[in-house]
Amino acid sequence: MPNKELEYSSKTIRAGVWGVSGYTGREVLGLLLKHPGVRVTDVAANNTQGPVAEIFPEFLNRTTLVCHPFSIKETVKKCDVVFLALPHTESMKAAPKLLKAGLKVVDLSADYRLKKAQVYETWYGHRHVDTGNLNKAVYGLPELFRQKIKGAAFVANPGCYPTAAILGLAPLIATRKDIQSIVVDAKSGISGAGRKATVDKLFAEANGNFKAYKVLSHQHAPEIEQYLSQLAGRATSIHFVAHLLPITRGILNTMYVHLEEGITANQVHSLYKKFYKIEPFVRLHPLGRQPEIKNVANTNFCDIGLAVSPDKKLVVITSAIDNLVKGAAGQAVQNMNLMVGFNETEGLL
Ligand SMILES: NC(=O)c1ccc[n+]([C@@H]2O[C@H](COP(=O)([O-])OP(=O)(O)OC[C@H]3O[C@@H](n4cnc5c(N)ncnc54)[C@H](OP(=O)(O)O)[C@@H]3O)[C@@H](O)[C@H]2O)c1
Repeated sequence: MPNKELEYSSKTIRAGVWGVSGYTGREVLGLLLKHPGVRVTDVAANNTQGPVAEIFPEFLNRTTLVCHPFSIKETVKKCDVVFLALPHTESMKAAPKLLKAGLKVVDLSADYRLKKAQVYETWYGHRHVDTGNLNKAVYGLPELFRQKIKGAAFVANPGCYPTAAILGLAPLIATRKDIQSIVVDAKSGISGAGRKATVDKLFAEANGNFKAYKVLSHQHAPEIEQYLSQLAGRATSIHFVAHLLPITRGILNTMYVHLEEGITANQVHSLYKKFYKIEPFVRLHPLGRQPEIKNVANTNFCDIGLAVSPDKKLVVITSAIDNLVKGAAGQAVQNMNLMVGFNETEGLL
């Protein structure tokens, strides 16, 4: 039975966080506890159970919420909106049931970002079990799809690398017909791979190290290409290489765009300035200055820097985000704000 229609602007939203014991779930909870329009009523995880303040002592004296096993029945009773901070393949099991019960859902996993089940299955190696909802999920990048997100019941929150890459490339992609090639050189802190223990993420392995991984075979490449193609109105491909930085949080993408006809630094800067004129979370740096991870860490900002080669045919764009905030939880809250009619920046500035 669908929930009764809510007058969101005049009511407090009851929110649930599934996967609260993970990095993005913890981040969603932290943001929601400070959000003036939200009451968190339900938190759940897979194996991790008990008081949230014991799982993450940072929540001591901030909440008495207790993490329990997933229960569709309980969540439907207690919530208006649910954040799914679950591994891919798990979200697509829960989302259809929550949506059917009338809840709004923001999925942080990759399960609904790729619109073709076959592409998902190729890159993620699993069969998609909820293809019916693939086209219902709105891609939650507000800077490009704000109108669709407003009032949507279901949002597929973008990946962390794709957020930094698409925001960094969008103004050029949307306006230039002479793009010859795009290289995305992406670097992320270790929390990008989640809280689950693996050897790669051990301090002794990552500290003092820097390495490329999944070179030209990272699953975020098709996501970036899908939305850049949509923006360009034609098939657009990229060369994507991911790297692991020995830091906890943050992404810096350096993107190289080769143009046939060329552009000056002032022209490209004006283009970006106009494109992002009204955006509360995109900060364009002046020419000659580049974004840094430490300036966006723990914020929902995406900082962008620009430079052009002397022959005007190579544009270098740098973009920096916090993978757990603009790359995940912050963007998810930004999407929820739009979905329920709150001010888009509520709880995020
Ligand atoms: N980390 C990032 O920077 C980032 C950015 C954007 C998007 N994402 C996406 O967001 C989702 C969550 O990522 P994360 O980094 O927060 O992961 P994480 O730290 O590994 O947390 C995963 C959460 O899901 C639960 N879980 C684990 N296995 C499960 C299963 N088989 N069935 C149901 N629940 C299970 C865990 O509960 P237990 O503690 O009980 O195991 C935990 O609460 C992923 O799909 C990821 O790709 C992550």
